[in-house]
Amino acid sequence: MKMLAKSFLVGIAALVVLPASSAFDINAINVKQVSFNDQNDPELDSDARDVKINAGGVNGSDCFVYTSQANYDLPSSTYSFDDFKIWETCGVFDGDSTDQLTNELLRGDNTGSEIRYVFADTSGDGSTTCFLEDAPPTGFSVELLSRPSGSNTDLTDTSLSGGARSSRRCDLSRDGTVVVFDTDDASLTDDDRANNQEHVVYTQDDGNSFIRLVPDEFYNATDGKESISGVVSGDGSYVAFHSNIIYPDASLTASETYLWRESDKNIHKVTNLKGKECNRTLMFDTLIGLYGIDKLIEQDLATELRLGNAGTQCNAFAAAGELSQTGTIDVKDNPASISDDGRFVAFTTNFESATLRGTLERPTPVSQRNLFLFDTKLGITWNITDEGESEGGMPVDEPKLEQFQCLTAPTSFGGGAIVANRTACSERNQIRQSCCWQRPFFLPVVTNRISGNGESIVYSSDLGPITDTGIQGDQEIVHYHVPTGIRTQITDTRNRDYDDFFPSISQMGDAVAWTSDFDYTTNEPITLTNQIFASKLIMGCSRDTTASNFEASPDVEVCCEFDNLNLDTAGKGKVKEVTFVLMGDPDTLKAHVAFSDVDSDSDEKWCAAYVEQVRNDVACSLAVPKESVVIVDDATDCNNWTKDQIEVTLLFSKNPIKKVSDMCTEIQLQYDDTNSKLWTSYLTKTLKLDNKPKLSE
Ligand SMILES: *[C@@H]1O[C@H](CO)[C@@H](O)[C@H](O)[C@H]1NC(C)=O
Ligand SMILES: *[C@@H]1O[C@H](CO)[C@@H](O)[C@H](O)[C@H]1NC(C)=O
Ligand SMILES: *[C@@H]1O[C@H](CO)[C@@H](O)[C@H](O)[C@H]1NC(C)=O
Ligand SMILES: *[C@@H]1O[C@H](CO)[C@@H](O)[C@H](O)[C@H]1NC(C)=O
Ligand SMILES: *[C@@H]1O[C@H](CO)[C@@H](O)[C@H](O)[C@H]1NC(C)=O
Ligand SMILES: *[C@@H]1O[C@H](CO)[C@@H](O)[C@H](O)[C@H]1NC(C)=O
Repeated sequence: MKMLAKSFLVGIAALVVLPASSAFDINAINVKQVSFNDQNDPELDSDARDVKINAGGVNGSDCFVYTSQANYDLPSSTYSFDDFKIWETCGVFDGDSTDQLTNELLRGDNTGSEIRYVFADTSGDGSTTCFLEDAPPTGFSVELLSRPSGSNTDLTDTSLSGGARSSRRCDLSRDGTVVVFDTDDASLTDDDRANNQEHVVYTQDDGNSFIRLVPDEFYNATDGKESISGVVSGDGSYVAFHSNIIYPDASLTASETYLWRESDKNIHKVTNLKGKECNRTLMFDTLIGLYGIDKLIEQDLATELRLGNAGTQCNAFAAAGELSQTGTIDVKDNPASISDDGRFVAFTTNFESATLRGTLERPTPVSQRNLFLFDTKLGITWNITDEGESEGGMPVDEPKLEQFQCLTAPTSFGGGAIVANRTACSERNQIRQSCCWQRPFFLPVVTNRISGNGESIVYSSDLGPITDTGIQGDQEIVHYHVPTGIRTQITDTRNRDYDDFFPSISQMGDAVAWTSDFDYTTNEPITLTNQIFASKLIMGCSRDTTASNFEASPDVEVCCEFDNLNLDTAGKGKVKEVTFVLMGDPDTLKAHVAFSDVDSDSDEKWCAAYVEQVRNDVACSLAVPKESVVIVDDATDCNNWTKDQIEVTLLFSKNPIKKVSDMCTEIQLQYDDTNSKLWTSYLTKTLKLDNKPKLSE
């Protein structure tokens, strides 16, 4: 049973478990336990995983929906301990004891048929839940539960096909109206897809009808191409998924991420992986250049076939900054995530995907799976993780890599690479670039989820050799705040046996939950029977005591908000126009906007969204209400913007929070200080150098 539980893990198969070490140092933010062993039989070590968060608790407080073996207070004569069940636990942050916790069984098997319920998702208010029913021997079906009625709908039923047609991974819109999932069940969409050929389907009528997201023109029932891992936006208007369909400009070997739009059923390719795939011929040529063909022949590396798929070499040369990416791990290992309004799609890959960087940022290698964020409105893909900055050289230098990786080197990584210390690594392996100081095996990101409001991303990471606190292979939970670029490390076990993984995040981004190998309440390892833990972050603005979200010392410093602002009480003083100049190529950005090829108003919408974002960033940097930074329509002629000369003029207007003259002084001071809020905000980090914001006379 315990081994089966582990098989739920997707995408971290590379982890290697070493003997536990006793030295660890725990430093985590306000961690609370969500899932527990049975109260009446604590000896039964239960395993819990795959948590999602809704706001269905008292006064909209956080509740957690997850899979666990636990029975809590249910009779073990009715519910077998071994069968995974779907539970919802509420009240986790409502006090310091566990007395206030409520546990509700959403689905469990009381028929004695060894049916397991796994991989749940929940609507925002918790009234709808989808999950998989695993009924041996037939396989996985998708079910949809409504509360309070308790009515349970089978969206699919594998027993109808004798178990041949299974389903995977349901994802539910926050408003509970739409479910998407992967299936090879041809009967749902009335097509003739092959057995085992997964496609994402969409239902907005509780399973009465289904739409296949890959449009017919790109669909082929027999070519083995699939679409998988759908994630749906808040009201079902958009779905992101991964697919290897034959599509214009798509990689022929790597799966790409696509965005589907409900209104017209069009798809837009989010990623651009084509031409970035690891090239074995190039790697072989590179080795000849470095060592000479005679040496390669001597070491049984005479032809490029001896390099396998050359992933090891691409990986090592990418880490060394000699290739811009490894190009072996595409997007498909883990689902992307999508914000409620569909504006943001976050995905992971070791193909370079960033299309724009902050002006002060230098390139970073993409040797490992990194996290990227596509902004569908601005047409920008940002990097959210990095491997250190370089200027042509090796960012993570060899000593750093050696220290991070060799001391705790696993004997295999990612399916069989040989790594070892300086004395143990053979000459052949050194030439193959597979020794622990050559080939990277740190984890910038494993899985991610973006919050519904699109402002926060939670992900798991071993933090890599560029940090002081990372331990190779030790996944910790990290929170990233998109508008301000603030990164907050939530867990810190500093022990590679104690992973914190598969994080989820609440709609507002302030609650995160994850599966853990470590019990934060007892400070003991629970590596075989994991539990769910959660953390509530204080997100607020400390920069103005009159802000409605004022917090003297928040965990995450966010933009100030001002409710019930009375602009009539604004102070004296003149209004001022301030012009900002930003980097970037307007034509490239516009071309990358989602569905720009089909929408006639796409350029205008891009322009409006761009100016609005600069306005938000400037108001946030100054800690003033957005209303005091006004868009000057007649000064915004996006058509005369040229590459690296994007001019945005904003009006600083009278407001009760800050004098206009102070706003002007402060924005210029922030421009001169490259650590300021202005230079770290979402879009203004692309301001142009030597172009101080210009004030009108
Ligand atoms: C819910 O909100 C009401 C009104 O603000 C308050 O009186 C009550 O104590 C709250 N309950 C909980 C459990 O927070
Ligand atoms: C579908 O795929 C098969 C197998 O690759 C191929 O022979 C066939 O031509 C394809 N059909 C269409 C319509 O593209
Ligand atoms: C791979 O590299 C070789 C040698 O540099 C080059 O000739 C070839 O075009 C490359 N292949 C691809 C698909 O880029
Ligand atoms: C993106 O990469 C750059 C290096 O090119 C790095 O400085 C920056 O911090 C990264 N961005 C994020 C959000 O991590
Ligand atoms: C290097 O690895 C070999 C083989 O695992 C081991 O016997 C040896 O003790 C290691 N040397 C050092 C310095 O760690
Ligand atoms: C761009 O357009 C604005 C408004 O039409 C105009 O004032 C400005 O001079 C133009 N800038 C350039 C560089 O052409």
